Amino acid sequence: MARSGRVAVIGAGFYGSTTAQRLAEYDIFDTVVLTDIIEGKPEGLALDMNQSRPVEGFETRVVGQTTGQDGSGYDAIAGADIVIITAGLPRKPGMSRMDLIETNAGIVRQVSENVARHAPDTVVIVVSNPLDEMTALTQIATGFPRHRVLGQAGMLDTARFTNFVAEQLDVPVGSVRTLTLGSHGDTMVPVPSACTVDGKPLADVMDQAKIDELVDRTRNGGAEVVALLKSGSAYYAPSAAAARMARAVAQDSGDVLPVCAWVDGEYGISGVYLGVTAELGAAGVRKVVETDLTADELAALAEAAEAVRAKQADVQQL
Ligand code: LAC
Repeated sequence: MARSGRVAVIGAGFYGSTTAQRLAEYDIFDTVVLTDIIEGKPEGLALDMNQSRPVEGFETRVVGQTTGQDGSGYDAIAGADIVIITAGLPRKPGMSRMDLIETNAGIVRQVSENVARHAPDTVVIVVSNPLDEMTALTQIATGFPRHRVLGQAGMLDTARFTNFVAEQLDVPVGSVRTLTLGSHGDTMVPVPSACTVDGKPLADVMDQAKIDELVDRTRNGGAEVVALLKSGSAYYAPSAAAARMARAVAQDSGDVLPVCAWVDGEYGISGVYLGVTAELGAAGVRKVVETDLTADELAALAEAAEAVRAKQADVQQL
């Protein structure tokens, strides 16, 4: 199999390291770079992942690199086609993603400046929380064109929704399609009207009270995991979602995926990073793809956009 390209993951916590592992196991990249500010951690994880190669049967090399506050070590990401920013703190039980905004803004800004310096042509996928705000901040701090900066959230929220529906109906996850738009937060907009099971509308196979319950569980999907783990937040589903987005970019696939992207008139909304479906390719977001929404869903999306817009304006000062 032809392998090519270099993808870098910034932050070697559980989210970052599982993302690096998934990317390496795809076996489509030459190199996966994993960085962290904790001395030796990325090198140790990379060594460990490389030693799994003969067993798992992949050839992609993982390179670990400690980075300093001064930007040292960032030359390891030079030439990366894709950089995934996972740096920042995760939530603790009882915290909202928004409680992380000040701390993570400082971290994400510094990382973004180093990414812009060392990998000026890369596509950036942001996963740090609060997601929509950190994505906006990354675009500002890198100065990259907006189509080259996107965030991971809809893939994850949609995956959670799909899993809940499949479990409830006891059907394969592969037979379920769901959609969430809006923010990766309180104003998340699950879109039941776009959900199907074996091609049939969700509303035909599940009563409204149950749909509402699963919508609610999806909206609180991250907090449910945080409450159980007690320290740290989810990473298996989040890393699967981030790696899948990176693969669409790496393969210039044109896949239409739910992501956090800059909207410019779609759904009558402009000038904000928002959860929408978008066609991904080598340049990042090729275009935002609009879905038919009910009037209520459209109103909820507009509300999400305004909530996120206000916070994205604040984040510029941080
Ligand atoms: C979650 C975090 C990663 O939703 O935002 O699990």
